[in-house]
Amino acid sequence: MEKIINNKSNNVIWHRATVTREKRERLNGHRSVILWFTGLSGAGKSTLAHAVEEQLHQMRCRTFVFDGDNVRHGLNSNLGFSREDRKENIRRIGEMCKLFIEAGVIALAAFISPYREDRASVRRLVSEGDFIEIYCNCSIEICERRDVKGSYARARRGEIPEFTGVSAPYEVPENPELVMDTGNTPLENCVERIVEYLRERKIIAEGLDRKLF
Ligand code: ADX
Repeated sequence: MEKIINNKSNNVIWHRATVTREKRERLNGHRSVILWFTGLSGAGKSTLAHAVEEQLHQMRCRTFVFDGDNVRHGLNSNLGFSREDRKENIRRIGEMCKLFIEAGVIALAAFISPYREDRASVRRLVSEGDFIEIYCNCSIEICERRDVKGSYARARRGEIPEFTGVSAPYEVPENPELVMDTGNTPLENCVERIVEYLRERKIIAEGLDRKLF
């Protein structure tokens, strides 16, 4: 057993598991990765992440979706939307996703994650190829027209400070692995493209059944 000393405390020791990620991946019959969905509020990140998860689950893959609603109510309930808090939000989620890929799971993360720098730090946290950035490209006009949660209207009235796309920036990804036109493309087509990409990259096998139930 190898012991790695944490650089902040000499008394924290990392135990390396004998059941490795590779063994878990073999057992699962697929590789583990992070599918990172980024885009404006209302762009369809969560909807798409859950639809991809549903499809992968049907194909017997081990998956888990993290999104603003489940994470900000629990683990990150002490964080708001300042620049620093958003950075910390993404840092914690990145660390959590890293643990999930060690666990052999396909982790789907759906967060606005508006800053390039924060997304890049998650990419750096894991090995090359483990972070797949999916830009959910949907114009602010469409997001605002949808306004599922009524947040844009409130933000325009000045009731939500630092609202992404209205009074806080969204930095468009420069080199994402995938761009989904979530403003105009039907959901099933986006799901299809992502699953196809996972096959191309050999993260999931060609032969996995499309529908099992
Ligand atoms: S992130 O910027 O830190 O990545 P995250 O994805 O966790 O954001 O949370 C976004 C959700 O929080 C939005 O869908 C919206 O409903 C809500 N929200 C509340 N305040 C803000 C704000 N100031 N900017 C953006 N979203 C906000």
